[in-house]
Amino acid sequence: MERFAVKPKIYFGPEPMKALDALAGKRVLVVTDAFLASSGLLDRVKARLTGPVEVFDRVEPDPSLRLVAEGVAALRAFRPDAVVAFGGGSPMDCAKAMCWCGKERPPLWCIPTTAGTGSEVTSFAVLTDTDRGVKIPLVDDGLLAEAAVLDPGLLDGVPPQVTADTGMDVLTHAAEAAVARGASPFSGALAERAFALADQRLPAAYTGDRTAKGDMLYASCMAGMAFNAAGLGVCHALAHALGGRFHLPHGRLNALLLPQVILFNAQDPRAAEGYSRLARLCGLAGNPRALAAALTRLRTRLKIAPRLPVSAGDLREALPGLIQAALADACIPANPREVRAGDLQAMLLEIGGGA
Ligand SMILES: NC(=O)c1ccc[n+]([C@@H]2O[C@H](COP(=O)([O-])OP(=O)(O)OC[C@H]3O[C@@H](n4cnc5c(N)ncnc54)[C@H](O)[C@@H]3O)[C@@H](O)[C@H]2O)c1
Ligand SMILES: [Fe+2]
Repeated sequence: MERFAVKPKIYFGPEPMKALDALAGKRVLVVTDAFLASSGLLDRVKARLTGPVEVFDRVEPDPSLRLVAEGVAALRAFRPDAVVAFGGGSPMDCAKAMCWCGKERPPLWCIPTTAGTGSEVTSFAVLTDTDRGVKIPLVDDGLLAEAAVLDPGLLDGVPPQVTADTGMDVLTHAAEAAVARGASPFSGALAERAFALADQRLPAAYTGDRTAKGDMLYASCMAGMAFNAAGLGVCHALAHALGGRFHLPHGRLNALLLPQVILFNAQDPRAAEGYSRLARLCGLAGNPRALAAALTRLRTRLKIAPRLPVSAGDLREALPGLIQAALADACIPANPREVRAGDLQAMLLEIGGGA
């Protein structure tokens, strides 16, 4: 038996923020980061909330276990009727984990401000254990939001580098979901549409095109639905290991790894067929090599450096821990091909260290 489920209601189209009127008069805790809280963007949310509002704006990129504990204390003290997560994957994952930890789980509304993680529709929350330098992806249906509000207008000011990094995360979600062990016709439809749309629109979004940024927000959400059902794979397992150790942007790490992961997984015939379909959808020759080469070209166009910005010595020293963390990562079992420590070592040495 297989299953495909989508829990959050997704609000989009003209004036999506109107959906927040459902929270009128309620006590709302908003979870965000300091930049977004001071940027004026948060006023668009606050303008819709008519009850008591408290803002927890301490979220930093790659939220830590300690930060979630602080957030849980804020949640217990304020006792909100609902939580609104406002931001990229970091505020959304922090808010998801905060709600999940409490005895009474308040309904969670996610409002993404980056086109990347798809966290607004996934049962994943990625937290960092800063003491051990390890990222931990929690996966549980209890982490799913009630609602997601997709408002492309929030992405106008996203800087080009963040658009590039997060956009490569979208492509990686779609590419991994398309060939993952849990892939189905339902997840496949979403993964293929998300991949083709992101491949087509990311360059324009990078140069600031508003409609392209909106298309990327939709692609991000579709890719999130796809991987939530199908699973991810070795690219995300390695990106989590590297992100926990070196604290580099998640999407940029995926961008470095994905072409190699495609070539590695393409030894599996089903995965090779999945990648070939993605390549054809993007107007390329229908084979995995063409897909990997196109992603490398796109990465260059987005000015993402091809090597890890850490020294060769630091990478060598970190290798055993990175391999151990990646093998234990929750994303590994969905990879279409079995992965051994030696395979991970070869992929890591291929991308680093370039500093
Ligand atoms: N839960 C999931 O399903 C899932 C999936 C993939 C990644 N993740 C996790 O999500 C995190 C990364 O999230 P992210 O890539 O969205 O980055 P992020 O949330 O860390 O934000 C990156 C930067 O962009 C800024 N920013 C956000 N919105 C902006 C806007 N509208 N205008 C200007 N600046 C803006 C933020 O202030 C921050 O400085 C990582 O921890 C990653 O592991 C989670
Ligand atoms: Fe990701």
